[in-house]
Amino acid sequence: MTTDLFGQLPASIPVADAKRIADLRAQLQLHAHAYYVQDQPLIPDASYDAMFRELQALETKYPEAITADSPTQRVGGKALSQFASVRHRVPMLSIRTETDTEATGAQNFDTRVRKELGLTDSDPPVAYVAELKFDGLAMNLRYEHGALVQAATRGDGETGEDVTQNIRTIHQIPLKIAAPTSGAGSSSLRSSSPVPVPPVLEVRGEVYMRRDDFEALNERQREKIARGVKGEKTFVNPRNAAAGAVRQLDPAIAAQRPLSFFVYGLGEITPAEQGGPQFETHYELLQTLKSWGFPVADQVERAQGATELIAYHQRMGAIRDSLPFDIDGVVYKVDSLALQRQLGFVTREPRWAVAHKYPAQEQLTTVLGIDVQVGRTGKLTPVAKLAPVFVGGVTVTNATLHNEDEARRKDVRVGDTVIVRRAGDVIPEVVSVMTEKRIPGTQVFTMPRQCPICGSAAVREEGEADYRCTGGLFCAAQRKEAILHFAHRRAVEVDGLGDKLVEQLVDAQVIRTLPDLYKLGFTALASLDRMAEKSANNLLEALEKSKQTTLPRFVFGLGIRHVGEATAKELARHFGKLDAIMDASEEQLLAVNDVGPIVAKSIRTFFDQAHNREVVEQLRACGLNWPESEPAAAAPLPLSGKTFVITGTLPTLSRDQAKDLLEAAGAKVAGSVSQKTDYLVAGAEAGSKLLKAQSLGVAVVDEAGMLALLASPAL
Ligand code: IVH
Repeated sequence: MTTDLFGQLPASIPVADAKRIADLRAQLQLHAHAYYVQDQPLIPDASYDAMFRELQALETKYPEAITADSPTQRVGGKALSQFASVRHRVPMLSIRTETDTEATGAQNFDTRVRKELGLTDSDPPVAYVAELKFDGLAMNLRYEHGALVQAATRGDGETGEDVTQNIRTIHQIPLKIAAPTSGAGSSSLRSSSPVPVPPVLEVRGEVYMRRDDFEALNERQREKIARGVKGEKTFVNPRNAAAGAVRQLDPAIAAQRPLSFFVYGLGEITPAEQGGPQFETHYELLQTLKSWGFPVADQVERAQGATELIAYHQRMGAIRDSLPFDIDGVVYKVDSLALQRQLGFVTREPRWAVAHKYPAQEQLTTVLGIDVQVGRTGKLTPVAKLAPVFVGGVTVTNATLHNEDEARRKDVRVGDTVIVRRAGDVIPEVVSVMTEKRIPGTQVFTMPRQCPICGSAAVREEGEADYRCTGGLFCAAQRKEAILHFAHRRAVEVDGLGDKLVEQLVDAQVIRTLPDLYKLGFTALASLDRMAEKSANNLLEALEKSKQTTLPRFVFGLGIRHVGEATAKELARHFGKLDAIMDASEEQLLAVNDVGPIVAKSIRTFFDQAHNREVVEQLRACGLNWPESEPAAAAPLPLSGKTFVITGTLPTLSRDQAKDLLEAAGAKVAGSVSQKTDYLVAGAEAGSKLLKAQSLGVAVVDEAGMLALLASPAL
């Protein structure tokens, strides 16, 4: 960019200051271009800010030096009462849209172009330019002698609105342009010399909002709404937010809505006969616009014939969701401007360009109902049932509302008209409600306090977003998960009862609840698909064997939320008997090691569900039993407060057995060695844990040493 761009300053200003002003303006423009257009800042933000403030100070000192194109003048001017009309000197046309699948859309266009040009199959492919179709608003920017004088919306194509004040706030749009002096940024196609900027130049392109800017804007809007600021709302999508910003009558507000811009064509330009530039191709035109400082999307590509257009459509479709901005399709244009002229227009659409759309990612539909689904682990999820709508390439009938807070925030109600979005493989979502279309009498959605599947209490714990069903043992939605957990090796071990089998047993309705497991007969089992006689017998045997269990295993097996193996052991040790646990108050539960308020409450709620107690009784009736004992004496266990780690292969005990022994003696068994480890039990082929223990000076014992510790009186 030239340094004499901002050269003409009044003679009243001392030469040195005038030079500094011009120099600062050129520097600031250069750095803004590097930052906003090229995405490659050359200097730290602080240096830019310092220069900006220096220029502001000089302009305060010499108000006569202020020009509209000064970088300090992007936000200025008063709020308007309405926008002035602008008659476009060259009409702003729209383009024909192809919505067909990728192959036919591009093929149809190419076939039409070739036919119009009188080409036959033996002629070479037509040269095209393929571009992204940005989802924003079309804008005409008029420059006279290099200065931005007017920005206008498309309007009806003939007459638009003058939104210059707002468009000036877009940092990617140069307020002043000139041909590059040399080197960097010059037109690559006319490498000989830079193309001079003509006296009249209208560039056309799309004003849009980046997705990250949109999210941040909506976040700020939500904060304002939460603070009770009147008249604020969130925006439905980036396009909507961009349109709102462009049509904002107060430029100060527009400046707070970060917009971006891509250029894709021309409006009026000084004709070649009057010294204007002569371009041969659309591609060359774009490169020149780029050299003048306008942002051109990186994805602009030249393509030969329909095949390469199809490939472009596919490639861009695949990266669509990872772009930083929304696109709704791609645009194909005949590259040669001579051929464009030859092809001309039909009614108001050029024959040389076409928009090839992707399936829309957002659609309007109505909410038929709000269901609450219960997941395998008891999580309740509100789901909007929708009138079927084709969006993002599939027919959508359900959209998740995630949880109570999300449903409240969006205030989705049965009967509402909503915007549904499905992008890529992401699950469909309700973006927002069209509140203006809300019918009278709709009800605010509330989460049920009862599980819709089993009727047990549904609770939301403090600090959690989700409601959960507390009928873990009884609830049909959680059946499979509950049975698998119960049968787990570390719970009431039922050897051979894995997820495939549970799936099969539950789906075939052979078992409905946990106790049904123990009522299984040989005939029912053997009738299952792929169940051999031997496996049926093995399972019955494993079930029989599992009846003789321990209290900690049984309590852990119940699958009470927050009650893991260690807590189950503490509960069993503390209370000694199952009935004592089931009847313990929250305060009594709090007296147990490792049990805090959340765990205590969870245990209490679990046993408050009549259904859960019934299941426990039925299991006992089926013959499940365990030794019970008196409540734990106050005397500490021999290894209380000691932390062990087990590594390597022990000569006689499995690691699980060693763990059980240690825990029964009050020790904690951890997974990794740290400063807090008291003993490492090392077997054969102990590796890094042994080295770590040695380096930390942790006592190392073998199996015999461990058994000796267990036999010794309290440590
Ligand atoms: S060319 C005469 N190129 O799509 C051709 N338009 O009807 C003028 N759009 O609202 C349009 N990206 O604002 C062109 N790369 C692109 C575009 C593009 C988005 C918009 C344009 C207009 C609509 C076309």
